[in-house]
Amino acid sequence: MTGISSNNFEQLEKIPLYIPGKPIQEVKREFGLDHIVKLASNENPWGPTSAVKERIFKAINGSADEGVGFYPVSDGFYLRQAIAEYRKVKLNQVVLGNGSAEIIEMAAKACFITGGSAIVPRHSFAIGGIATQTAGGRVIETQATATKVDVDAILKAIQPDTRMVYIANANNPTGVQIERDGIARLVKEIRSDILLVVDQAYAEYSSPGEFPDAADFLSERENLLVLHTFSKIYALAALRIGYGLGNERIITLLERVRSPFNTNHIAQVAAEVAIKDLEFIIFCREKNQQARDTFFAEAKKHRCTATGNAGNFVLLETAIPAPDFFRDLLKKSVIVRPMHGYELPYHMRVSLGRPEEMEAFWEAAAPMLDGGR
Ligand SMILES: Cc1ncc(COP(=O)(O)O)c(C=O)c1O
Repeated sequence: MTGISSNNFEQLEKIPLYIPGKPIQEVKREFGLDHIVKLASNENPWGPTSAVKERIFKAINGSADEGVGFYPVSDGFYLRQAIAEYRKVKLNQVVLGNGSAEIIEMAAKACFITGGSAIVPRHSFAIGGIATQTAGGRVIETQATATKVDVDAILKAIQPDTRMVYIANANNPTGVQIERDGIARLVKEIRSDILLVVDQAYAEYSSPGEFPDAADFLSERENLLVLHTFSKIYALAALRIGYGLGNERIITLLERVRSPFNTNHIAQVAAEVAIKDLEFIIFCREKNQQARDTFFAEAKKHRCTATGNAGNFVLLETAIPAPDFFRDLLKKSVIVRPMHGYELPYHMRVSLGRPEEMEAFWEAAAPMLDGGR
């Protein structure tokens, strides 16, 4: 055998690469800057709390029971127990992932073991489509706009070989939310053998009473998987930890495709502390709403359109092509996310940071938006 060329590799090369937000260190290096404002990856600028940090230090310092020399509890029993209690489900209805993105990959592995298709609305969070294809499935993209996901289009697009429907609610990058009646229709009308994956990475940014939580439908549909992450409001993005809720059969199936020790001990114990701190969640939710309101008002002043009512980010449409706007902002020490890769050529996704970070954004962006770059 010579070389590594095969049809499979050619197939793999056609799958889009996930392009993450630029890291602060990279921008400092590239542009010789020393202070950067990062509004590119929908992280939480307010955390984690000191209680979470103390628990992390304790885990690193180690004891007879824990420390970085030991493997973690492979299935994250204690964190799953805390999640089950918090979400009022059984322990066996919870699975952990190395970020919720890994659970999307686990779902795709489980669904496409013998091929098939996934329904993914246009402008959706990219991992749904990428995970489908790397697991051997094909993507059927349905009609959606920057301000609306079309539930009818999802239902109409289902094929005999469809194995998974993936929606992010709220969606990243558009901040669009499907309301409860839309979720209820998907739950009831999607064929029962299809796994409906509802990714709720930003759910905690909405008040519990207002959020159309797909987990409410777990008793009505066996093939339902609801995803959450500790990367967003819980401010643990670097630790890579998320969770999925489903019925026991689905969770048991996902356990078969989960890598052993997929979540690390530090992440597990930090998340266990974080999930109990409701006061911090409420604080971040309020700060986020204030940042969104201020952003919308500023966007209006500069005659551009800001949309997205859910999550910790907004979508800003300007008259400047997204890659140009992105480069020019980088030179001014501000990292945002250009959205041309999501078929939104004039849109930027801007994460909602602390007031001083948002001020820095407008200070850099205003001259570009108002004329002279
Ligand atoms: C909708 C959505 N799902 C999942 C993720 C991935 O989160 P995690 O860090 O848990 O892998 C993101 C991250 O931006 C997201 O926007």
